[in-house]
Amino acid sequence: MRTDTGHVFRLEDYRPSDYLIRKTELDFQLDPEKTIVTARLTIERRDGVSLATPLILNGDELELVSLHINGQPVSDYTAMPELLTIRSLPQQSSFTLEIVTRINPTTNRQLMGLYRSSNVYTTQCEAEGFRRITYFPDRPDVLSVYTVRLEADKQAAPILLSNGNLEANGDLANGRHFALWHDPHPKPSYLFALVAGDLGSISDQFTTLNGRQVALNIYVEHGNEDRATYAMDALKRSMRWDEEVYGREYDLDIFNIVAVSDFNMGAMENKGLNIFNDKYVLADPQTATDTDYAGIEAVIAHEYFHNWTGNRITCRDWFQLCLKEGLTVYRDHEFSSDMRSRAVHRIDEVKILKAQQFPEDGGPLAHPVRPKEYREINNFYTATVYEKGSELIRMLRTIIGDASFYKGLDLYFSRHDGEAATIEDFIKCFEDVTGRSLAHFALWYDQAGTPLVTVSSDYDAASRSLRLTLGQKTDPTPGQSHKQPMHIPVKFGLIGADGKDIAVSSHEGAGLEGDVLHLREASQSWTFHNIAEKPVLSLLRGFSAPVHLSQQLSREEQLFLARHDSDAFGRWQVIHQLMSNAIIANVEKLRLQEPVAFDPALAELLAELVQDETLDHAFRALCLSLPEEADIARELGSNIDPDLIRSSREALLSVIAAQNAALFAKTYASLQDNAAFTPDAEGAGKRALKAVLLSYLAASDNGPARVYAQFNDADNMTDKIAALTLLVHRFYGHDNATQALAQFEKDYGNVPLAMDKWFGVQARRPAPDALETVQQLMQHPLFSLDNPNRTRALLGAFAAGNPTGFNRPDGKTYAFFTNLILTIDRENPQLASRLLTSLRSWKTLEPARREHLKTALETIAQAENLSADVRDITERMLA
Ligand code: BES
Ligand code: ZN
Repeated sequence: MRTDTGHVFRLEDYRPSDYLIRKTELDFQLDPEKTIVTARLTIERRDGVSLATPLILNGDELELVSLHINGQPVSDYTAMPELLTIRSLPQQSSFTLEIVTRINPTTNRQLMGLYRSSNVYTTQCEAEGFRRITYFPDRPDVLSVYTVRLEADKQAAPILLSNGNLEANGDLANGRHFALWHDPHPKPSYLFALVAGDLGSISDQFTTLNGRQVALNIYVEHGNEDRATYAMDALKRSMRWDEEVYGREYDLDIFNIVAVSDFNMGAMENKGLNIFNDKYVLADPQTATDTDYAGIEAVIAHEYFHNWTGNRITCRDWFQLCLKEGLTVYRDHEFSSDMRSRAVHRIDEVKILKAQQFPEDGGPLAHPVRPKEYREINNFYTATVYEKGSELIRMLRTIIGDASFYKGLDLYFSRHDGEAATIEDFIKCFEDVTGRSLAHFALWYDQAGTPLVTVSSDYDAASRSLRLTLGQKTDPTPGQSHKQPMHIPVKFGLIGADGKDIAVSSHEGAGLEGDVLHLREASQSWTFHNIAEKPVLSLLRGFSAPVHLSQQLSREEQLFLARHDSDAFGRWQVIHQLMSNAIIANVEKLRLQEPVAFDPALAELLAELVQDETLDHAFRALCLSLPEEADIARELGSNIDPDLIRSSREALLSVIAAQNAALFAKTYASLQDNAAFTPDAEGAGKRALKAVLLSYLAASDNGPARVYAQFNDADNMTDKIAALTLLVHRFYGHDNATQALAQFEKDYGNVPLAMDKWFGVQARRPAPDALETVQQLMQHPLFSLDNPNRTRALLGAFAAGNPTGFNRPDGKTYAFFTNLILTIDRENPQLASRLLTSLRSWKTLEPARREHLKTALETIAQAENLSADVRDITERMLA
């Protein structure tokens, strides 16, 4: 178990390594409890490094068996489980080191290094898992060419996989066999992988741009082969797309994907051997929702795209994580946008950014997209590095334009191929192709916090001019008290009374390019001339920058934009704002025990939108969905009482449902579809609209009949789970709800990924006794704290997806959760620390709950033997 050493790693301390590892030959004698690893490293002392410099290799829980240099036993060394130091090295600058270690894959429950999942040997090495396999300079700037020999019992492990191309395989004595893999591309240790076990597979082929034949295989548990076909299709589409859009071709003869059921993350981009959480591979209409299909498509693409952005060009150090993750998230977003509806996808991206990243950036765990220090790197795979990192790429493209963006990336790919690069290297490529400085833009990588952009405008009818002033301000974040103004690209439009955009022909003020205002100062003004009438301002179109926008629009202007903004994102945004404002106004009324009040214009607007056949179904569904309780909490920002928020949101839902009952029922009925299920965007859009309509109907119907009918008639998981959720959340205790839960359990009891939804629906039931339900479900035979998917499905959903139930006022849940975190931490620190992170906004709660939470966090902080992961998060949350 790794406990905290308290060491802080700093970006400014970076130094290149003294020794390089040119070649890495690994031999694995696989055994469930005693796996023997022989590493033969061809080592080179870097020019100018003195002979006296010891070779220092990382380890983690390692047991050393033997050590040889150039074939001779080594005597001058110290071996500890986490460090191997060798002195008295050969005079020659190059030598070979042979290290034999013994490891136990079965007892490895951290799921880092070599472990077993359902009797399959598998690895996870990013970020620092390779050091749990053998001693090595386990840092991303040490690139090496790997040759890997695997040996195992043939019956137990007929499939033997590693990175690169298969060079040889064959049978051995005693029922064992071997495979020899060679990866010609130098790579850092975090991209090493092996898989060995008894797996089924599906195979296909892909011919690249330049005619390379690539064998494609997806390995799954026997019996699940048919559920991998969508993933295979997504893989081929990703490979084609990366060629067409970025000119990037695959570079090995084989591409393997393996799905495993115990995995801390979503998936991992190991060179030529991607390893996936099975949640992001397995799908069929009966068990996967539209969201699951979209998730599979996105994650398959993401890991595939890493082959260039991450593998061919990797990161110099872990501070540069966003170099590969932010860029690759941007690329997978673009892919999904091309595969589906771009406007709808953009709204979904922003929803996630605001739900995950904004609270991080505004709370105790705030950090720059490129952090300057860390204690535990696993805690920096965050929404800030990923989602904000992706937004920075998007802004860069907005600032320099499409042509320069692709030119700069081409330069990046050619200039840094085979290297471990930095954010500076990346930015320099775009400076070189545009000939302009991007220093101001680059501040986004180093300055944490979400800027607040304020707006004021003044129309002068006499001079037919509009003066617009934008201001910006960023609040302090931990470790950064003083903030500088950022370069914020604000896409905008001026809309005339006819609902059409007004072309800007003449203006004053610096930094207007096309439809983008470049806000660079704390405050900046522009004056637009020849504007015949007072326009309505549409600002931050497409969410062109990750900022809070504070714009005082009148009710009339909001309703106007909701109907006329040509920017779909802008339309959704203003509708969402109208709903938010209504809910927040009533939260205040409820707090003062005054009667709630509503503006009927909102329900009228929604009635209009739901009937607008020019809008796609998915967009209509987004417009009709009320903000989540967590969205309202974030807008409120402090003194949060989750019960008041829920009551207010419920009140609005009921009013809209009552006002539009007949229309919603008619529209819902018209969407009943007898066509066979297809997982594409169009079908998904219809189902999404159906689901949101059903949620209104469930609020106005006086019983569960309609919802129960959808549950029973559904031929796909999307419709089924939407109905089950409403039954459990609205009609709990009613026979129909009880029956539906039992039926689901009976039908899907042997499909763990489907049962995860069943756990999740119950964990999210908004009621004070959700805690007791969760505690009971932990005793369910299918539940296990050892499996990250089960744990997240039940406990992650409870903590992050049930604001009222989780935050029940007596604080009992917090005490339960504290113990749970400590229990999980003993086995799997990464999982524990991620669960704990879902409480990052605890300081925004009202005082009584806040006190309870403080006590809970202090209990964690005082516990002994905390992992570095949980200690780091706890201390930052309490600071
Ligand atoms: N490289 C990561 C996987 C990873 C993350 C390994 C953290 C070790 C620690 C992978 O490329 C990734 O980013 N996966 C995401 C999904 C993706 C679609 C954003 C994940 O696992 O959540
Ligand atoms: Zn990634």
